[in-house]
Amino acid sequence: MKELAPLESLWEAANGQGVDLPLPVELLKLYGPLRFPPHPDRPYVIGNFVSTLDGVVSLSLPGQSGGGPISGELRQDRMVMGLLRAAADAVVVGAGTFRDVRNHVWTPDYVFPELAEEYAALRREMGKEGPPLNVIVTAGGKLNFDRRVFQSGEVHVLIVTTTGGRDEIIRRRPPQSVQVAAIESDPYLTAQAILDAVGEAGGEDVVLVEGGPRLIGNFFDEKRLDELFLTLAPQIAGRDDSAERPGLVAGKIFAPDGPLWSRLAGIKRSGSHLFLRYDFGTDST
Ligand SMILES: NC(=O)c1ccc[n+]([C@@H]2O[C@H](COP(=O)([O-])OP(=O)(O)OC[C@H]3O[C@@H](n4cnc5c(N)ncnc54)[C@H](OP(=O)(O)O)[C@@H]3O)[C@@H](O)[C@H]2O)c1
Repeated sequence: MKELAPLESLWEAANGQGVDLPLPVELLKLYGPLRFPPHPDRPYVIGNFVSTLDGVVSLSLPGQSGGGPISGELRQDRMVMGLLRAAADAVVVGAGTFRDVRNHVWTPDYVFPELAEEYAALRREMGKEGPPLNVIVTAGGKLNFDRRVFQSGEVHVLIVTTTGGRDEIIRRRPPQSVQVAAIESDPYLTAQAILDAVGEAGGEDVVLVEGGPRLIGNFFDEKRLDELFLTLAPQIAGRDDSAERPGLVAGKIFAPDGPLWSRLAGIKRSGSHLFLRYDFGTDST
């Protein structure tokens, strides 16, 4: 692996509960210890985003709308994405995020292949078989089934959709291996309904929500996101009237009537990039 500087741990909440995940030596060296609080009888739900200093998460330009141009293609950010995917039973994305990335599969090694062996070792130690379940959430069901995530057989895919979305999906003839969970809804599904469907398909312990802004808005709205892993990239992207450049959340308003405050759980650094952990659990005010 081309030399990768470890993250520097600047601060961590003292009362971090839970058991350290069994990170292999190389991951431990690069990231430091990682643990999640105990969460009996329910999945622990984490989000992972990268944002500019001025709060832009997508440049909304063809070929440049993903997280890469936001982070400046920082390898450490991809390393952390891979680590969180490796720790997860399911990775959940909205159809907008899916449509923006042509050949993506939501596996740890896809995002950071250099640590494929370490990610696989972590999953083995955690008793997780194979890659995380890839979950795509869509209301309308207009998905392109030619994409690698459906065709390659690399991952199990669950689509969570509405009953109308299911009809559209059937019309588009998905590969037989793709699981579809249809829920009566008008038109957006609740985060809880999505989590229930993911749980039934095997995503019971750690669920990673990778966005985008509309999907994660539902999780914030229902207070179903336990923690946000936010990479803060030291650039100003700017906005004008030519195109919308979304922030972390779309489609929901919280402040001033129902602001969602969180508690800082950790700060790490790679050069001028910050890796922030915010706890949104019920006792975070
Ligand atoms: N910087 C980052 O870390 C980061 C992370 C993720 C995404 N992004 C960027 O964000 C942009 C996408 O933004 P977005 O807000 O459109 O993303 P999104 O939430 O991924 O996609 C929105 C679409 O997902 C489906 N969806 C979301 N929530 C749903 C719900 N509760 N029930 C049913 N369907 C639901 C709907 O699909 P249908 O239209 O099919 O009905 C909706 O139109 C992309 O440019 C992406 O690259 C950036």
